[in-house]
Amino acid sequence: MRSETAPAIRLEDYQPPLYRIDKVALNVELAPGATRVTATLEVSRQPGTEAGAPLVLDGDELSLAGIKLNGEALAETAYAATADRLELASPPADPFELTLVTELDPDANTKLMGLYRSSATYCTQCEAEGFRRITYFLDRPDVLAVYTTRLEASKKDCPVLLANGNLTETGDIEGTGRHYAVWHDPHPKPAYLFALVAGDLAEVPDTFTTMSGKEVALNIYVEHGKESLCDWAMDSLKRSMRWDEEVFGREYDLDVFNIVAVSDFNMGAMENKGLNIFNDKYVLADPETATDQDYANIEAVIAHEYFHNWTGNRITCRDWFQLCLKEGLTVFRDQEFSSDMRSRAVKRIADVRLLKSHQFPEDAGPLAHPVRPRTYHEINNFYTATVYEKGAEVVRMLQTLLGEQKFRAGLDLYFDRHDGEATTIEAFLSCFEEASSTDLEQFSLWYEQAGTPVVSVETEYDPDRKSFTVSLSQEIPPIAGQKSSKPAVIPLRFGLIGPNGEDMETGSVEGANVASDVLVLDKAHQDVVFHNVAAAPVLSLLRGFSAPVRLNQPLHSEELLFQAAQDRDPFNRWQAVQTLAMQDLVRLAGLVRDGSEGTPSEDVIGVFASVLGETQLDEALRAQALTLPSEADVAQEIGKDVNPDAIHTARQMLRRAVAARIASSLVPFITDQSAGGTFSPDAKAAGKRALANRCLHYYAVSGAADATDLVWSRFASADNMTDRLAALTLLVHDHMPREEEALAAYRERHTDSSLAMDKWFMTQATAPGNETLHRVKALMSDPSYDAGNPNRVRSLLQSFATGNPTQFARMDGAGFELIAESVLEIDKRNPQVASRLLTSFRSWRALDPQRSALAESALLRISACENLSRDSRDIVDRTLQ
Ligand code: PHE
Ligand code: ZN
Repeated sequence: MRSETAPAIRLEDYQPPLYRIDKVALNVELAPGATRVTATLEVSRQPGTEAGAPLVLDGDELSLAGIKLNGEALAETAYAATADRLELASPPADPFELTLVTELDPDANTKLMGLYRSSATYCTQCEAEGFRRITYFLDRPDVLAVYTTRLEASKKDCPVLLANGNLTETGDIEGTGRHYAVWHDPHPKPAYLFALVAGDLAEVPDTFTTMSGKEVALNIYVEHGKESLCDWAMDSLKRSMRWDEEVFGREYDLDVFNIVAVSDFNMGAMENKGLNIFNDKYVLADPETATDQDYANIEAVIAHEYFHNWTGNRITCRDWFQLCLKEGLTVFRDQEFSSDMRSRAVKRIADVRLLKSHQFPEDAGPLAHPVRPRTYHEINNFYTATVYEKGAEVVRMLQTLLGEQKFRAGLDLYFDRHDGEATTIEAFLSCFEEASSTDLEQFSLWYEQAGTPVVSVETEYDPDRKSFTVSLSQEIPPIAGQKSSKPAVIPLRFGLIGPNGEDMETGSVEGANVASDVLVLDKAHQDVVFHNVAAAPVLSLLRGFSAPVRLNQPLHSEELLFQAAQDRDPFNRWQAVQTLAMQDLVRLAGLVRDGSEGTPSEDVIGVFASVLGETQLDEALRAQALTLPSEADVAQEIGKDVNPDAIHTARQMLRRAVAARIASSLVPFITDQSAGGTFSPDAKAAGKRALANRCLHYYAVSGAADATDLVWSRFASADNMTDRLAALTLLVHDHMPREEEALAAYRERHTDSSLAMDKWFMTQATAPGNETLHRVKALMSDPSYDAGNPNRVRSLLQSFATGNPTQFARMDGAGFELIAESVLEIDKRNPQVASRLLTSFRSWRALDPQRSALAESALLRISACENLSRDSRDIVDRTLQ
């Protein structure tokens, strides 16, 4: 016996709602163990709905404690209520008021969906379908209502009472020790954007004056004692607000913008109208506990949630299939923001690394789905890299194809035309079609087809005719459930690099639509001929990674070396270095697997050695260029019969060879930034730290006599988390002599910071070597570990499963078993966290036969469990399919 697979929800079955709910008044009486919610809904028939058509509201684990219609108690025969459904068999034909009372136990809510408690704070999470865990409702994004929320709680336990919109009233309830607050949000919104918070929190206030001169009160609420950790988040918020005005003309629209940081949160953060709720790791930062990466993430997530106010809230999704309408667009916007705040090239490289390491494997495995899926069993499983990151790439391609001006005109039209609506990808694309007079029908395939297109390229130079022919073809590899695919519209940014390293001017071009430096591939095969090309060029293609495709361009290593040294596109320079390293790693891994001898290529070592001295490139870019492709990236490139041990060995060989070559030049870079001065999280300073730590990473294995001492002293004397963690990681991952001592010292120093302790767990979980499995098991019963806290689970178990390829895929199967057991355990409490952990098996079929058999048996064990949640059932079924 196994749990039932939930019925599929299909895009093609979409029907508009029969009823509308225009107003919602909530009275939430908060109390530990028993919270009472009274919801008064103004309900009316949609035009076209027959009088008396049943009204069916969604619920989830609810119990109805009272129901009234137009103020009168309702006869029991007039409705039917279960935990997940409330039906009024024949409601009045005229608009009516429905009053529902539900009773909840926020303390018992371990799913962290709906109303729950994090530490002592009451908070909510309603996206995607959490509001139905608070009251019965038409819980779908195309039902938009104006909310008034009255909160009532103990004044001592919950001095702070927050909800969406503007505060309209507060007061004490005489003689009870309780008080109340009323919040009104004038902007109609879907239920998934509802939020409330109540607790004893510290307030960090600030203000922002909008472009039209309106003053907005800004507040960040955190646990007492953490006020000083909010400066960076507040600064990021103000910069986001200004940037959205300047770049997209978007102004904020309420008197107040509140952010609350909580420590138990399933995702990163949530864009509830006027009341964003954050996982505290995306708010809290100081140099002592946060790395430069943390600072960058906070800046990006604060911006992302703020930008949702227009792309998501003012204009929302008609249904959950359209999730990328808000997520892809908002990720694109936060990427642009970070690019403007930092180095555009470095940001692009970081985003592409993420896309390739997270989205490409998703798109190549059993969990592949289109950016706009057509069917789902559990919507929570579609907050994926494909919807978010590939969704952002699709918006970026639109900008590349239309040009910045027309793109902006299209977006302006979208804001103008659809403000206040719940809409679709079709409506979004129509705005760009109209504003640019471009037909986007073929382009829209990017939303429909799963899989990463492979673009293959061949070139030929004809010296007599001075012509250069580029033969292009595209193909999406076969994917389960997608028989055939059609050619996509692929914008390829390019340059023809001449012998002197400059981009060449060319004469006319035949065979493709070429606008300045963008060539559009829109057929299965296309020959593009450039005339008047003075000399044989090197074709630099996919500059800036202008499309989310795999490029199959057979360049000789001389050409790659030339590109690595000369390309004026910094992204492609970086890419050329990576490609050289990747080719060598794949070759070495093959030799290691077959038990043969091999040594890294001298050319590749030479390229890495020369990057260090390229002082005209900023430090962050050099640090990126000096970072070898990850083991997971190499595994993906190999694609089948993957042996993670061989890949690990190959990568360490190349690392050591590069280290030996550059050992004598490293020390000045390592010591450069530790010269002192006050810590600054800005991009320049972070870049210096990144390069220094990258150099330390090589120095550690360079064979230099003082390597261990230098790493230890960096660890012991670091005045910021970036440097301390970089050194700790080397000590632990390279199993250097003072590994244990360092772990103990770190723990001692950071016991009181759970965010810093997450890094301690993660460092150990991702260490290569056989002992790690036992260590991870031991850490699961460490007093600092908490299986109910999503951040702790992710730092220990998720990072083991996704960041430790050799140990997760151990030959004794114990890595898979540990994760399978953990999934089953966590699933009982928090299905979203469990199913997310379960996705770490997604590339199991690419492993060598022994390992994939072990992975399969772990998956089958999960699948055999009777009471699996809908979330985990969906993932395990698809992973095994
Ligand atoms: N909508 C949130 C974001 O991307 C993510 C989220 C989804 C948070 C579901 C919670 C639950 O900004
Ligand atoms: Zn988002």
